[in-house]
Amino acid sequence: MNQITFHHDTVLSDVHMHLPYVRHLMTRLNRVGQPGVYHTMSTPLEDVGKQVWRGAFFLADFILSKPVMFRGAAVLELGAGTGLTSIIVATIAKTVYCTDVGDDLLSMCKSNVMLNRHIMEPAGSEVKVRQLDWFQHDLCTDADVEFSWTEEEVADMHNNTGIIIAADVCYDDHLTDGFFRTLYQLCSNFTHTCTIFISIEKRMNFTLRNMDVSCEAYDHFIHCLSQLQDLVDGRCSFKVEQLPSNFAQFLLYERIEQLAWELLGVP
Ligand SMILES: C[S@@+](CC[C@H](N)C(=O)[O-])C[C@H]1O[C@@H](n2cnc3c(N)ncnc32)[C@H](O)[C@@H]1O
Repeated sequence: MNQITFHHDTVLSDVHMHLPYVRHLMTRLNRVGQPGVYHTMSTPLEDVGKQVWRGAFFLADFILSKPVMFRGAAVLELGAGTGLTSIIVATIAKTVYCTDVGDDLLSMCKSNVMLNRHIMEPAGSEVKVRQLDWFQHDLCTDADVEFSWTEEEVADMHNNTGIIIAADVCYDDHLTDGFFRTLYQLCSNFTHTCTIFISIEKRMNFTLRNMDVSCEAYDHFIHCLSQLQDLVDGRCSFKVEQLPSNFAQFLLYERIEQLAWELLGVP
């Protein structure tokens, strides 16, 4: 039996804690159909994308509750991890660029997309799993590199993306800065207005520094949101709004304090 071994940097997403084995296939659990995705139960911090996080379910629920908004859309997901939210949006949208970093993770994500082709078929959508690193200024277009982009895909993504989605990607201040820089760069390169949906879990941590519980990652996220909103540089402007969290629940997971934000990026 596979046991979880805890190291100093082991992290658990809390999703499916009742099945503590290293890898399994989620089954369809309700009438909507839960996608089956391969994922792991615990990972070191640098591999958190191989776990499914509650924010992925929460954003997927938001998408399922607003099908008109996503129907026929060209969507880009940042930090897609196992690909669960991309798979859900692909049941409604037209094209999805499902992006993250690392060949291992992207291979797992691609397998998950293939595994769920049948639930995307009715929409006739296309999901492309590609590398998009928030700390690389340019997208890799080297044909010899797996998960790289073609020049046509880069142009298509810049010219047609109407919606960006990101689930649970703001848990480390340095990564959050890279993520927000990426949002800014993308929206500045787009030829049209783009709507961005971000889900985040407000995690409380006790810190010795404050001798109290605080949500530092969340606070930094809010700080980055307000910086983006206050930006006046003539290249791009953003309108930020918190979304009500009481939309319908279609997928099976425990809802706690997850929050969703909508940003309108206007080039
Ligand atoms: C907590 S996981 C969330 C994964 C998935 N969205 C979910 O909610 O299940 C954070 C994700 O951000 C990705 N990430 C971390 N650093 C990144 C970077 N520099 N560029 C792109 N993605 C990154 C990780 O690989 C991981 O998939």
